[in-house]
Amino acid sequence: MESNLNKVALITGGSRGIGASIVRRLAKDGIAVAFTYANSSKRAEELVNEIQRSGGTAFAIHANAENVNATKEAVEKTIEEFGRINILINNAGIFEQKMYDQFTVEEFDRMVAVNVRSVFEGVQAAAPQMSEGDRIITIGSVNADVTGFPGLSLYAMTKAAVAGMTRGLARDLSPKGITVNNIQPGPVDTDMNPADGSNAVLLKEIIAIGRYGKATEIADLVAFLASEQAGYITGASIDINGGFMI
Ligand SMILES: NC(=O)c1ccc[n+]([C@@H]2O[C@H](COP(=O)([O-])OP(=O)(O)OC[C@H]3O[C@@H](n4cnc5c(N)ncnc54)[C@H](OP(=O)(O)O)[C@@H]3O)[C@@H](O)[C@H]2O)c1
Repeated sequence: MESNLNKVALITGGSRGIGASIVRRLAKDGIAVAFTYANSSKRAEELVNEIQRSGGTAFAIHANAENVNATKEAVEKTIEEFGRINILINNAGIFEQKMYDQFTVEEFDRMVAVNVRSVFEGVQAAAPQMSEGDRIITIGSVNADVTGFPGLSLYAMTKAAVAGMTRGLARDLSPKGITVNNIQPGPVDTDMNPADGSNAVLLKEIIAIGRYGKATEIADLVAFLASEQAGYITGASIDINGGFMI
């Protein structure tokens, strides 16, 4: 196993849910982690303290991905703090479920800004500072390929967009030795999609394994894709969904 010593990761949306599990897992693996948050400043501070108490290195950055340049500035702050960036995890995302005719143009723009534009912005800022063996990983969704019930048009569009962006970026960045991959989780028990929420009964019926995923299970896959062992995987959208709608 390679050493993670001296590696630096930035995880967007690391204060809660899947992002917080990724922060914990990469810190446990010896990686210095910076992470962004938009609203949860107290949870971000608690997470930094938790990582530091267990001997890790963490740094929280306030950056609302809805705002142009916020994610770019978060990459710059990570480099200022730690001197480099080796791993970029594009995790920050928002979910809204409504029939197609209920969305406003502002809601359309907001979902595209957070789920798509900020991913591109982060990559544009980070990749030029990266080198051979470095990693870019985006948290997409099973909804890029399947929806299962109404109201997911915009969210599914944004997650299909990052799957396509991943393929294009993998081509662009392979000459530099940087891999770019997209993880597509099925339902994962977080504030966004609680395992006892309104969609849960329906969702559990269409998951072969019959339960929601755990944020730690997504973080385990991120840790593998971030490792040296995953060097021959790029441009991939990898499902981790308990057998969703198979
Ligand atoms: N849970 C699922 O079932 C599921 C399934 C497939 C894919 N995903 C994807 O996985 C990712 C994480 O989802 P989750 O379930 O962990 O969601 P979550 O519990 O709602 O947590 C979202 C995280 O993203 C941050 N965030 C939200 N809006 C942001 C913004 N404008 N700028 C910066 N950070 C922002 C939040 O920060 P604050 O705390 O500061 O608000 C929080 O840390 C998302 O991309 C989501 O689409 C989730």
